[in-house]
Amino acid sequence: MSAPGPRYGSHPFYLNIEDVTTGTSNGVFLLNSNAMDVLLQPEPAITYRPIGGILDMFVFLGPKPDDVVRQYIHLIGLPELPPFWALGYHQCRCCTEPHTLANQKLITERTISAGIPFDVQWNAKEYMEPTFDDFTIDQKRFGGFADWVRHLHDIGMHYVPIVDPGIDPAQKAGQYAPYDDGVSMDIFIKNNTGGIFIGKTWQTSGKTVYPDFSHPGSIKYWTKQYQEFHNQVPIDGSWNDMNEVDNFLSASIYGCPANNSLETPPYLPKQLPKIQDQTLCMSAKQYAGLHYNVHNLYAFYMAIATDEALKTVRNKRPFVISRATSPGQGKYSGHWNGDTDTTYGELKWTIGSVLDMNMFGIPLAGGDICGFMGHSENNTHGQELCARWLEVGAFYPFSRNHNTKIMDQDPVALGTMVTRAAKNALSTRYTLLPYLYTLFYHAKTNGDTVSRPLFFEYPADKHTYERTVAETQFMWGSAFMVAPFM
Ligand code: GLC
Repeated sequence: MSAPGPRYGSHPFYLNIEDVTTGTSNGVFLLNSNAMDVLLQPEPAITYRPIGGILDMFVFLGPKPDDVVRQYIHLIGLPELPPFWALGYHQCRCCTEPHTLANQKLITERTISAGIPFDVQWNAKEYMEPTFDDFTIDQKRFGGFADWVRHLHDIGMHYVPIVDPGIDPAQKAGQYAPYDDGVSMDIFIKNNTGGIFIGKTWQTSGKTVYPDFSHPGSIKYWTKQYQEFHNQVPIDGSWNDMNEVDNFLSASIYGCPANNSLETPPYLPKQLPKIQDQTLCMSAKQYAGLHYNVHNLYAFYMAIATDEALKTVRNKRPFVISRATSPGQGKYSGHWNGDTDTTYGELKWTIGSVLDMNMFGIPLAGGDICGFMGHSENNTHGQELCARWLEVGAFYPFSRNHNTKIMDQDPVALGTMVTRAAKNALSTRYTLLPYLYTLFYHAKTNGDTVSRPLFFEYPADKHTYERTVAETQFMWGSAFMVAPFM
């Protein structure tokens, strides 16, 4: 765990630099999926306080930082090679106003017309029926969806939709296969008395049930849903959101069992207001065990099922981006680092976050370019922030512009200066794509990082460990350095 830390995942691994004049390093991985505190004590000590599981520790002796990380990645599993197109520029926009395909097309087309290198269009949940149910299409607002995706394919582009794990149990029987199939295949997570666990995420019915992706039947179940959706709209990948797993109730619709040591454990890790915060009851039951023990693995299992589903449905190398992650997930998905604010501070945070993910064996990582919440105001300050963010984001291994409501933040919406910045930075990225792809090949075959801190290449140069350098500058492989204006 280096400074910024992942906001949506659990990676109990640290890299310790013993001597900044030689770069001699070691690393430790605690293979444990339970909630835990990790406390940095006055040097050189660290305290782990997991509240369950086993104590299975692995020590990596390096001797250099990149050796430690390579040894760690070989243990947890080498990352998969993404399809080449996934290394292009991606663009998304949650909650477009008006909420229609016509408006989405407008944004896509003005980006193409401006000559911005652009390969992948995305949508958050606005393509779904207004109930926000996975694998549905809002025929009124998104009529012509499939033809549009085919058109994107015709012009050499790709398309990726959001998919949330939560399924709506409140549709009429026989009318919503993702729920009916889950019931007949007995796939959903159970509560402590054996009924289906019901929480709540986006679905307007106010009820959500959760596939148990640790269940051996879940791959068949999930593949069927992707197959049926793909038969309608030929999607090219999956954006796995809300998979921490998220639940707005922090309990089931009936609460969580009282007087239960799983729900009120004798020790609560410090950063949690309560153990069920924004998730399921700890006594919920999954095939692999109690949610208390396997909570942090939800997205990992979901990534495996999604990877398998896409392989079957598309018969091509899969592309999955996941919000939550845990050790070894790089074989099944990449990662975007979630809902950032539109500030310079958050822009800086994304750099450390991408470097962390590379050290965790998930090299296909990036942040929402121009920030997710708040807005890139259409004034000099906002335009400059978005231009700077595009200049950094063009060098995230996974490069996607995405935001929520308020206003458009695609480069063209923000004017000539931002459009020029996007074209310049992304053209440089596109010139380097063969190099970037080769780095992903080395990640897959050798456990190398794609994006890495300077001290991986120059471990005996003590300046590379200074915070101003370590947290803002980075390399692609050993030959290309990015030093953003901060
Ligand atoms: C979550 C995601 C965000 C997405 C939104 C709506 O907040 O992190 O990226 O746009 O849900 O689907």
